[in-house]
Amino acid sequence: MMQKKSEDRQSIHGQWSSRWAFIMAATGSAVGLGNIWRFPYIAGESGGGAFVLVYIACVLLFGIPIMMCEILLGRRGRQNPTDTMASLAKDEGLSANWHYLGWMGIVAGFLILSFYSVLAGWVLEYIWWTGSGRLSMVSGAEIDGLFEGLLASPLRLLLLHTVFMLMTIAVTMRGVKYGLERATLALMPCLFVLLLLMAAYAMTTDGFAEGVRYLLYPEWQQISGGMLVAALGQAFFSLSLGMGAIMIYGSYLSADTSVMKVACSIAAVDTLVAIVAGLVIFPLVFTYQLEPSAGPSLIFETLPRAFAVMPYGQVVALMFFVLLLFAALSSAISLLEPAVTWLIERRGLDRVVASIVAGIVAWLLGIGSLLSFNVWQEYKLFDKTYFELVDYVTSNIILPVGGLLIVVFTAWFMSKKSVAEELQLGDGLLLRCWQLTVSYVAPIGVVAVFLHALGLFG
Ligand code: TRP
Repeated sequence: MMQKKSEDRQSIHGQWSSRWAFIMAATGSAVGLGNIWRFPYIAGESGGGAFVLVYIACVLLFGIPIMMCEILLGRRGRQNPTDTMASLAKDEGLSANWHYLGWMGIVAGFLILSFYSVLAGWVLEYIWWTGSGRLSMVSGAEIDGLFEGLLASPLRLLLLHTVFMLMTIAVTMRGVKYGLERATLALMPCLFVLLLLMAAYAMTTDGFAEGVRYLLYPEWQQISGGMLVAALGQAFFSLSLGMGAIMIYGSYLSADTSVMKVACSIAAVDTLVAIVAGLVIFPLVFTYQLEPSAGPSLIFETLPRAFAVMPYGQVVALMFFVLLLFAALSSAISLLEPAVTWLIERRGLDRVVASIVAGIVAWLLGIGSLLSFNVWQEYKLFDKTYFELVDYVTSNIILPVGGLLIVVFTAWFMSKKSVAEELQLGDGLLLRCWQLTVSYVAPIGVVAVFLHALGLFG
């Protein structure tokens, strides 16, 4: 058995220029529509405060440990997720079947990107509307009308979906340093500052106290199996875990960076952005007497109402949607990157062609999602449209199962020595705590949440 360390392998795609660049790119992957669109609407559907607490517990107990596993596996394997898993399994003398885990990730990436791009298309439309003055001074009912009109027009959605997918391809095409890294470095801090400004505005609205209470005051009786699964799925989705996105980003990371420190910073920023987004949105929901459980349309109907009346609302709106678009873009590239690296390494394609091919696959799958808001609205399986089903199955099933296998592989199959070499946590208490978490807490917890959801336990 010959175990290769992370410095023994090189990624053919290059490396991040610094630890900071990795943190920004991985944070760019994590922070996206998941924080600003999905977190508030899932929290709203699941009842608010109790969900937020359960969510934070999921991030601490499962999210951070699993993210550390993904980074360390990626960095040690330094290839696309399937070959990373295959090489690491070979190093440890394990079955080659572990490479299917990489496949599951690539498929999940396509599925998520397919609907992600449709939603990012909505953001594009809002940029267009604000830029052209269409959203200024309109009434609440008119905003709802505009939004519903958009969902009802498949061709418009197709155009927007296509534009966003082209943007994603344009970034991945340029590679690690010039594409992925540059796209995220400047934009993430801007998004954060703007969100804080909007939170300051939300504080001046009548619904602020109610919004804060709704989001931060837990009502324990609301905790249910369904909520646990929703929180777990949201944690995986928001932290980009369970499908090899963080693994592939880890494969471009230098050998001397502390895995624990970077994972904690990424998770902290991601969670903070989600909560601040909630603190912007729920006060507006209560100020304008909207329904917190409105579902996916939540931010698209609440925020424009505030933009229409706040001072300089249209400028703020334009900046907000542009930054949301960039946040979505920096996440979308991480969904495509695992497939792109596979096409380059395994099919010998050049990066440009690989990005286009992978982009087309995701684009085709996305057509189903955009049709489920209009033409296919009535076609349902398990009471869910195509879009809802793909979102549910990927976030709540594939990502947690992928994450579970990743943590089980690291804790139970890789040798303790290999893992310790990557983590560099010394051999004291910190390492013990980590071992305890990845060997027992995270795997048992994820399985327990599933059993609970199936009504088999608790
Ligand atoms: N985390 C991103 C968001 O919150 C979405 C995303 C990017 C993602 N890469 C991922 C989700 C990988 C799951 C897996 O918007």
